[in-house]
Amino acid sequence: MIQTPKGIKDILPAETFSWQHIERICREVSELFGYQEIRTPILEFSEVFRRGIGEATDVVGKEMYSFIDRGGESLTLRPEMTASVVRSMIQHNYLRDHPMTRAWYIGPMFRYERPQKGRFRQFHSFGAEMFGSAHPEADVELILLASEVYRRCGILDLTLNINSLGNKESRARYRVALVEFLNSIRDDLSSESQMRIDSNPLRVLDSKAPNDIQAVAPAPRLCDYFDQESSDHFSHVKVMLSGQNLPFVEKSTLVRGLDYYSHTVFEFTTTLLGSQDALGGGGRYNNLFEELDGKPTPAVGFGLGLERMLDVMEQVRAVPDPTGTHVTICIAGDDAHTFAQEVAMILRRANISATVETQRRTLKAQLTTAVKNQVRFAIIVGESEKHLRTVQVKNLATAEQTSVDLSDLLNFIRPVFQ
Ligand code: HAM
Repeated sequence: MIQTPKGIKDILPAETFSWQHIERICREVSELFGYQEIRTPILEFSEVFRRGIGEATDVVGKEMYSFIDRGGESLTLRPEMTASVVRSMIQHNYLRDHPMTRAWYIGPMFRYERPQKGRFRQFHSFGAEMFGSAHPEADVELILLASEVYRRCGILDLTLNINSLGNKESRARYRVALVEFLNSIRDDLSSESQMRIDSNPLRVLDSKAPNDIQAVAPAPRLCDYFDQESSDHFSHVKVMLSGQNLPFVEKSTLVRGLDYYSHTVFEFTTTLLGSQDALGGGGRYNNLFEELDGKPTPAVGFGLGLERMLDVMEQVRAVPDPTGTHVTICIAGDDAHTFAQEVAMILRRANISATVETQRRTLKAQLTTAVKNQVRFAIIVGESEKHLRTVQVKNLATAEQTSVDLSDLLNFIRPVFQ
């Protein structure tokens, strides 16, 4: 039997209702905030991510699905979409005519990670990005948007963790001090963290290894190296979050796994997911346009993991039941197939969903399935109904059965669905 690759899952017909529910909320909230959808290709030149996300990150170093195509080009299945969206903005010089752009997206992402609960090799993200404002109110708008999506999804067990990585200059000064400190405790660090001291020292700070956590506790703090611009930006974000009654936890070790961030970074966590507790995250990335050969452009955004959101929603029973089909047409006798299709089309054109028996089963079997599927009405048609152009409408909740002229069917049935 051929199966899906490890860490890659099907979403089966009975599951798509919950996916559509969450996708609907993401779309509605994005539109309420004035964001427009962007769709970029799943495949990009590998360079987009290598330069955009950073060579020293786990995502680029270990997790990309890259291959050489038949023309000899290195392509990659997108591991995230921010770099793709920025590539697209630059390619189309989009910001020339739309200097303030608010964009959102949903789609599959691919990372060759070790699969475990809440961690997949193909997963789905909802994301939003804002281009054209360097001000803290933009950061707060994105946090508000994400929070509203969580709220409407019924995800209330949520902590907003925030930190600031300052601007490039502050970070460069801090990096010197941090590398010096990390070298002084090198022997106490895990081998992975030792390797990161020179390539990506900030990541050592959010290592999950217990010994590392203890060893880096006395590390110098980034905020002590902030210049005025960096501290002003961060304090404004905090003041505005408090003004919106959005509780947050300041977490100085939060650096996130992608290299493009500067100033504000944030992550939403929950206690309901075990070790993969990050429901979503994002931040400001004012230098990414230049990394990808664009003009300097202030930018901020986030990505939320839909599998993890659905997991929480199932735990707190926030996924509604599927609505199912309104009507099923049951056929009594072999002569009524064409008439049954005609009846079904009348209903569908009136936006009442209807299925027709196609297995030629007994009437009893058809009705049993309809009851099991919690269909509202069974419409029974046989030879005499065909000749008289009537139908038997059976309300499956009350078992009441009424003979109705076909010309009256919509009037009879429609009030129930309004
Ligand atoms: P990220 O934190 O790498 O950020 O991913 C966003 C979210 O996707 C995570 O918080 C997590 O919920 C989910 N996620 C990540 N990897 C996996 C996985 N292997 N399996 C299941 N879920 C996963 C970004 O991707 C940035 N592009 C966010 C952003 C947008 N920053 C600025 N703009």
